[in-house]
Amino acid sequence: MTSDALRVPSYLRDVYGWAYLTPSLARWLDRQVVVQTILWGNAQRLIGDVLAEVKPGDRVFQPAAVYGDFSRQVAAKVGTDGKLDVRDIAPLQVDLTRRKLADLPQAHVACGDAADPHAQQADVVACFFLLHEVPDDLKVRITRAMLAQVAPGGRAVFVDYHRPGRFHPLKPLMRRIFDWLEPFAQRMWQSEIRDIAGPAATGFRWRKRTRFGGLYQIVVAERA
Ligand SMILES: C[S@@+](CC[C@H](N)C(=O)[O-])C[C@H]1O[C@@H](n2cnc3c(N)ncnc32)[C@H](O)[C@@H]1O
Repeated sequence: MTSDALRVPSYLRDVYGWAYLTPSLARWLDRQVVVQTILWGNAQRLIGDVLAEVKPGDRVFQPAAVYGDFSRQVAAKVGTDGKLDVRDIAPLQVDLTRRKLADLPQAHVACGDAADPHAQQADVVACFFLLHEVPDDLKVRITRAMLAQVAPGGRAVFVDYHRPGRFHPLKPLMRRIFDWLEPFAQRMWQSEIRDIAGPAATGFRWRKRTRFGGLYQIVVAERA
C-alpha cells in the first residue's frame, strides 16, 4: 500500500515517536554527524558497504527513511540513469526525505509499509537499520517482502546490529541501550537474517560480513 494516509503503527508511536514523529527533534536528528555518532563512527563505512553493491543505472528500493545523507549518497551512485525509490510509514519522515532529495530527479519518496508486498522489482533493495526497530513478526514480513522485490540477478542488502564478540567493550552498554530504547533489537543478536527470512531465503546466495568487532552486520542476499 502506498498512500500518505497510512496509519502509523503503535510500535512506532510508542517506542520511537520521539525520534521519528516529533518534528523539532527529527529535524535535529536528521544530520550525518548524529548518525555517525549513534553508530560509533561507523556510519560512512556501513553506507560504503551498501554503495559497493549498487551500480550506476540501478533501480534501488529503500524501504524506510534513514537520517543523514544515506539516501543522497545512494541516489548519487545510481545517477540520473538509475532510480532510487524511498518509502517510509511516517508522513514526517516522507516529508524530510523528500526535501533532502528534492534536487535529485532520480529519487522518489512516498509513504509505504515495508512489510507490504511491492509490485516493482529492484536491482538492489537497501534495508538500513530497519529490522532492529520493528517487532519480531514484522522482521519476518519485512525480510520476506524485501526478498520478493529483488529482480533476477539483483540483491537485497541488510545492514543492522549483530551480536558483538564476547569481550566487545561496548557489549554491556549496547545491552542497556537496547533495554532502555530499542526493545526489538535483541533479536538481531540471536538470529541470522537468513533464518528470519525462513523459506523465502531459498533461491538466494547469502553472504555476511561483520564490522566493528561484530556489532554490525552487512548481509547480502543475491538472487541466483
Ligand atoms: C530505517 S529505520 C532506522 C534508521 C536509523 N536509525 C537512522 O535513521 O539512522 C527508521 C525509519 O523506519 C521507519 N519505519 C518503521 N517501521 C516502518 C515500516 N513498517 N515501514 C516503513 N518504514 C518504517 C520509521 O518511520 C523511520 O523513519
